[in-house]
Amino acid sequence: MGRPLKIIVAIDGPAGSGKSTVSKIVAKKLALLYIDTGAMYRALTLKAMRLGLNLEDEDALVSLAKSSRISLEEKDKLNVFLDGEDVSLAIRTPDVTANVKYIARVPGVRHEMVALQRSIGQKYGGAILEGRDIGTVVFPNADYKFYLDASPEERAKRRCKELIESGEAVSELSVKKDILTRDNSDMKRSVGALKRCDDAIFIDTTDLSIDGVAEKILSYICA
Ligand code: CDP
Repeated sequence: MGRPLKIIVAIDGPAGSGKSTVSKIVAKKLALLYIDTGAMYRALTLKAMRLGLNLEDEDALVSLAKSSRISLEEKDKLNVFLDGEDVSLAIRTPDVTANVKYIARVPGVRHEMVALQRSIGQKYGGAILEGRDIGTVVFPNADYKFYLDASPEERAKRRCKELIESGEAVSELSVKKDILTRDNSDMKRSVGALKRCDDAIFIDTTDLSIDGVAEKILSYICA
């Protein structure tokens, strides 16, 4: 039996806006494939760090993107594979998070990643993709586009909770500083910058529960 809905749903927004959790819930409800595009940039960052590449060397990073195999596999949870190795946990470390901006700002790298994201989305017919440039670059003709945001304080609180649960000792203040720095580089890069496009439905998630946001998104799609 095929997937019932052949739609592309784009979810963009900054760190801690609730994209990942909500996307997973919506994907499950609608039996759509879930594509975490941030995980792909993270996987490449991990590989560049392991190889000790100069993160300012754009040519080396583009070659890396062209020669790497990145794939996502959904079982109980989403597993991220890099050249056949499961790197789902390794891509979430603070070092990878701090360095991903060097990889995500390179136009040639983005070109490779966008092509990969489009081919996965098209192959499966229906998918929900979350990231920074899904509605603007990857699938500008997506059937539904959402832009999620929340106050920096709330986003820091959520991210801090996640990090503490995964065993990292962090303070809300340092997490807030980190996500504001990342927002800044995500919004200012020359290609694939994070921006709220006019045709995306804007949802401020500051005072909403995860289920509340998921219901809101589902109410638009199932209207
Ligand atoms: O989960 P979190 O919001 O911390 O980040 P992520 O979605 O895992 O993405 C990590 C980083 O990858 C972001 O800060 C962006 O710099 C980059 N990214 C991107 O450039 N384009 C995307 N479509 C997705 C992520």
